[in-house]
Amino acid sequence: MPARSKKRHLRKKQMRLKLPRGRARLSFKVTKPRNKDLILVLDFGSQYTQLIARRIRENKVFSRIVPFHITPDEIRKHNPKGLILSGGPLSVYDSDAPMPNLDIFKMGLPVLGICYGMQVIAHLMGSSVKKSKEREFGRAELFVDRNKDLFANLPTNLTCWMSHSDQVTKLPKGFTVMAHTLNAPLAAIANRNKKIYGIQFHPEVVHTQRGTQILINFTCDICGCFPRWTMGRFIDTTIRQIQDKIGKKKVVLGLSGGIDSSVTAALISKAVGKQLTCILVDNGLLRKDEAQSVVKTFRDHLKMNLTVVDASARFLNRLKNVTDPEIKRKVIGDEFVKVFQEAAKKIKDVAFLGQGTLYPDVIESVSPLGGPSATIKSHHNVGGLPKTLKLDLIEPLRELFKDEVRVIGKQLGLPETLVHRQPFPGPGLAIRIIGDVTKERLDILREADARVMEEIKKAGLYQDVWQSFAILLPIKSVGVMGDKRTYEYVIAIRCVSSIDGMTADWVPLPSEFLARISNRIINEVEGVNRVVYDISSKPPSTIEWE
Ligand code: XMP
Repeated sequence: MPARSKKRHLRKKQMRLKLPRGRARLSFKVTKPRNKDLILVLDFGSQYTQLIARRIRENKVFSRIVPFHITPDEIRKHNPKGLILSGGPLSVYDSDAPMPNLDIFKMGLPVLGICYGMQVIAHLMGSSVKKSKEREFGRAELFVDRNKDLFANLPTNLTCWMSHSDQVTKLPKGFTVMAHTLNAPLAAIANRNKKIYGIQFHPEVVHTQRGTQILINFTCDICGCFPRWTMGRFIDTTIRQIQDKIGKKKVVLGLSGGIDSSVTAALISKAVGKQLTCILVDNGLLRKDEAQSVVKTFRDHLKMNLTVVDASARFLNRLKNVTDPEIKRKVIGDEFVKVFQEAAKKIKDVAFLGQGTLYPDVIESVSPLGGPSATIKSHHNVGGLPKTLKLDLIEPLRELFKDEVRVIGKQLGLPETLVHRQPFPGPGLAIRIIGDVTKERLDILREADARVMEEIKKAGLYQDVWQSFAILLPIKSVGVMGDKRTYEYVIAIRCVSSIDGMTADWVPLPSEFLARISNRIINEVEGVNRVVYDISSKPPSTIEWE
């Protein structure tokens, strides 16, 4: 393309891009086509690290989370346009306080330190950080002293969210005050020449008014990122990448009916159509009508190749007399691999295995407190397949958060019910039957669970709660039905709210609603004469009973 028409083409493209809402002015100068712009978030162990990355992406700039000790060379490999230092649970004075490589400040990249990240900047630049006895937690009034850079396009008074015990008490050399609160005279500081900024509050949490604008000001105005990371673009480029990688070969994928494997399947299928075969292993531990609904969506609606293997008898056989929850998980995981391998071997010329790995599973996060970072969950996912399959992995969602995966699912035409499905554990109903798993118990639980689901959906609660389900307790209690004495199982109902499954609160469902569910289960499900409601939060309990 000649230089002039290329320029015109770019200008048109720029105009077509939708800018984030609330932007009064954007000052990018795009002179040549670029790959997606990137911001790196250095993780110092904050509970909000992932939230920072997500907020930036919500505003169409791509972001990645990296460990706090990343070296300048490693940073250069990512080629970012700016760095954000996250908050963290420690004090810069702690002996094991996480400190970044000092040379990252000499790379000429804009840096924004948030809370602990700001204290790190001040500490490393020779200023003082006060270790205060009292923690400041919650909302505070922020008075903006300079409506520039981070605070451009913002009012002079803002409510912000604080969560810290230390604070910067002396300006580092070359820095000026950008904002203060009544408690923190240096609530925001900046070295505007070097583009290094520090803020004591958390712009990433919703309680900070216009926090998103502060992040946009940093990523777009200060770092010069172009806001064009959208799910539509992601789909287009990923489809091309999948096509290049797979060529004319074949792919196999284990479909569970959950959002991650479903969106992966839809994306790969869009790229290579019938070269993809999905395998649904019906382990007999699924919810009522689950397998049929997967068949309806993927085979009937999306016209994809789907093989359903009914392996319920095999699983039930392996689970005989297994009562320990962890052994149940292992047995189910092991049997899944066997069944899947057998089915995959029947498909000729398979070279790739599609998997629904998401970003939170792969973040190389380091907890300054030792062990895995608090945001990383290690549960025993039965979808894990061994390397003995000798297939190359295709993991198109590796860099995405769950909410982004949902958007893609919607754009690819997956039904709303699937896109917003509550999480369901890989070992299924087996870990919701305490003790022995038998066909009789599975049938009872499946019917009881279906009643819970129906009522929760009818009440419009399905998407508001994290999970809602039934558990079968292996004890029998006495009841009376008509004139007859009964001696039957107890069903427990669990309904929790949560952000990420790491912590959870039980939901105080209205008593009339609980009464309706209880009535329905006892009247309609043979083998149950008592229903109880679980009122325990996590921690100290867990969401699942096993
Ligand atoms: P817990 O019971 O640990 O559960 O509070 C947290 C979240 O993880 C799910 N979970 C599992 N998911 N395989 C899975 O795929 C498992 O073995 C497993 N155990 C728990 C649980 O449903 C909740 O969403």
